Amino acid sequence: MSYRTDVSKQRLDGWPEEVAGNGVAVPVIGGRMVPYAYLDNAASTPALKAVQETISNFLPWYSSVHRGTGYKSRVATAAYEEAREHVKRFLNAGDDQAVIFIKNSTEGLNRVSHLVRKRGATVFSSIMEHHANMLPWRFQAGAVRLIQADDQGIIDEEDLRTQLRSAPSGPKLVAVSGAYNVTGYTPPVHRLARLAHDFGAEILVDGAQLVPHRQVDMQGSRAEEKIDYLVFSAHKIYAPLGSGALVAPKSALDEAGPDLLGGGIVDMVTLDEVAWNDLPDREEAGSPNVVGAVALGAALDRLRRLGRDELEDQEAALTTYTIEKMTQIPGVSVLGPPAGQNRVGTISFVVEGAPHGLVAAALSYEYGIGVRNGCFCAHPGLLHLLDVPPDQVEIVRDRLRRHERWGIPGGVRVSLGLENTQEEVDRFIAALTQIAQSDLATSYNLNKATGDYEPEGWLEKFDLRIQAQLSAW
Ligand code: ALA
Repeated sequence: MSYRTDVSKQRLDGWPEEVAGNGVAVPVIGGRMVPYAYLDNAASTPALKAVQETISNFLPWYSSVHRGTGYKSRVATAAYEEAREHVKRFLNAGDDQAVIFIKNSTEGLNRVSHLVRKRGATVFSSIMEHHANMLPWRFQAGAVRLIQADDQGIIDEEDLRTQLRSAPSGPKLVAVSGAYNVTGYTPPVHRLARLAHDFGAEILVDGAQLVPHRQVDMQGSRAEEKIDYLVFSAHKIYAPLGSGALVAPKSALDEAGPDLLGGGIVDMVTLDEVAWNDLPDREEAGSPNVVGAVALGAALDRLRRLGRDELEDQEAALTTYTIEKMTQIPGVSVLGPPAGQNRVGTISFVVEGAPHGLVAAALSYEYGIGVRNGCFCAHPGLLHLLDVPPDQVEIVRDRLRRHERWGIPGGVRVSLGLENTQEEVDRFIAALTQIAQSDLATSYNLNKATGDYEPEGWLEKFDLRIQAQLSAW
């Protein structure tokens, strides 16, 4: 999972023709329409055309799964189970692990926290985590131990070792992001797995930002490196929202029993007894999102056919190119490890003297470039990376108590996907260079309740008949 850094020999253009809606025209200040440059793939990726086609072919056929003898139910069940096989193959999940369809990574992490609560396990995690890999442990685990991180957000393996060594006996889980959604940093998850297993702990990898960008082999190269639990979301891997997968040891799921209760998870219910179904059905209460699962399976299949090595190489090259260009812009500081280190194409930055909301607004309203700004659902990590002093945090908390969301410390994030090209990055670099010089096309009003900036006099009325709108453009 490390970068191949010789950018000159690698392609910098991705596969824009593979995704739906690439480069649609959007309005910018001055009444012009420009092709949308989507640099917010860490939030959600666009759907692959292969996914769009699969869904369109499948919609006339979808039906309930595992519940009907009708022909369409049999088709839907077969498609659903084939999607599960795609997930299993994509991650090299073991036969001792169950693949459970969930709605997103957040749900998966909450599901694992149910196991953790039942076992009273101690969770070892770091502050460099998305809230989804933080809050469930804080509220459900027996105890949470925080692993130290340096000023680039790289977690301290020696600290983890020390904490594991001194932990009281009992169940333990190390829970880390495979790629951090703020800096894109990819910790050595198999080495961490070895460390966890050395001390009798299990390891969970939040794969939301990793699986779309790196090949993941849950088995590692030897038994001690195995990833025990992994979650990821469809909407970050080129399929629509509302689906994802949790891979977990069957033994742990057997031990804990289901946490979501309802239809489809039992063989028999009498008034005094419940005979649970087998895995994975026992963990999928209610009618599942069969279209979402099929879409996810189609995305994984297409990525595999495009070539995982090629995808990784292209993204690594474009990431290095982007970071190198960004660091040449006066006043721009990139958070996290330098270019060429282990990181996916997720790059957060700050611009000296310019609020993150204003930078993101100018990129959007003036240049048609979509990014995310703020704290990226990772407040403790971002405050650490920005080195925000406690008295500043207190001032912001006071404002929030008054329901004012302005002035919150944060950054701007560009995040690359397989559809991005060098031309889009060059557009972004040119725009950022202007913005960093305070060269804005207009003045912006700050909405203190939301923290958002909007150009003065901007009037927006969306035509929500999106289909009609896209074809009109
Ligand atoms: N978790 C997503 C992000 O980091 C939404 O943007």
